[in-house]
Amino acid sequence: MNEPAVNEIESIQARALEAISRAAGLDEVEHLRVSLVGKSGEVTRLGESMRNLPKEERPAYGKLLNGLRAAVTDALEARVLALRAEADRAALGAVDVTMPGSPQAEGSIHPLSTLLDRAVRIFRRMGFALAEGPDIETEWHCFDALNTPPDHPARNELDTFYLPDGRLLRSHTSTVQIRVMESTPPPVRIIAPGAAYRRDEVDATHLAQFTQMEGLYVAPGVGLADLKGTLEFFFRELFGAGTETRFRPHFFPFTEPSYEIDIRAEALGGRWMELAGCGVVDPAVFEAVCSARGDRVYDPEIVGGFAFGFGLDRLAMNLARVPDIRMLVENDTRFLKQFRP
Ligand code: DAH
Repeated sequence: MNEPAVNEIESIQARALEAISRAAGLDEVEHLRVSLVGKSGEVTRLGESMRNLPKEERPAYGKLLNGLRAAVTDALEARVLALRAEADRAALGAVDVTMPGSPQAEGSIHPLSTLLDRAVRIFRRMGFALAEGPDIETEWHCFDALNTPPDHPARNELDTFYLPDGRLLRSHTSTVQIRVMESTPPPVRIIAPGAAYRRDEVDATHLAQFTQMEGLYVAPGVGLADLKGTLEFFFRELFGAGTETRFRPHFFPFTEPSYEIDIRAEALGGRWMELAGCGVVDPAVFEAVCSARGDRVYDPEIVGGFAFGFGLDRLAMNLARVPDIRMLVENDTRFLKQFRP
């Protein structure tokens, strides 16, 4: 095998490996690959020139050349892997695993939701189902069907939000009593928590939109004793065994007799608090429902019932010691995050 050819191959290999080991990027490696073992690369062209050699020298030369090609190809591949590993290391180097993670904000439960959940759970244990009605109501559902005469002060434009078409934003959730009885034959036993609206001046104890919980139980034979037992049990469950309840005679157009309920409980600061309205459903309400339904299943001679309604906002404020009702709706996270998750 002739000396110059061997020398040439050796010097090409040394030069090529040196260049490859110094290639600074993948582009440069690719460039070297093309110029060495590409179609018209240096090594490829050496193979083509083998034809000019004497026949007996060709096998040995070919073997050398294959060695060169293998060495160059291996070196190119190794350099690519090394460059990739380097890039990976650099990328990882930018992550400081000792840095604190980004905190996940934990939500909290609004005091109104906490109270609502507890109240609903207690009533469900007594067989009350959840019901609802629209916030935008007819005057009939809000007042007439509830035995409220046209000259009643609550119907005043200064107290109730009227829409141009004569409908209104319900001023109490008692509308749901009518909605439920219109669509469902007795017996009905429902609670209906929801929004109510009044044109009140907004201050520390008033909002124009507030939350009420309505209740209605209608079945043959239901009366005042059921009302008293149900609500006394409810308030004891809600505020604790030592809770005192006082039924004070009052007037509501849709119940007869009617009462306001005062409560005294440690959880509410230990003083009497006026809390709810209630009473035995007035026969006039059943008559209104009968004429709307066009049947007599709510004939007051057949069914009896009781109803109650109370505001949830002030109660939630008392339980959570919130001094200003506006805090309940301002969505200030400094306020909200104080409550249990
Ligand atoms: N709707 C009354 C109000 O907003 C509360 C009320 C009183 C509801 C007596 C009733 C009830 O169901 O029987 O002041």
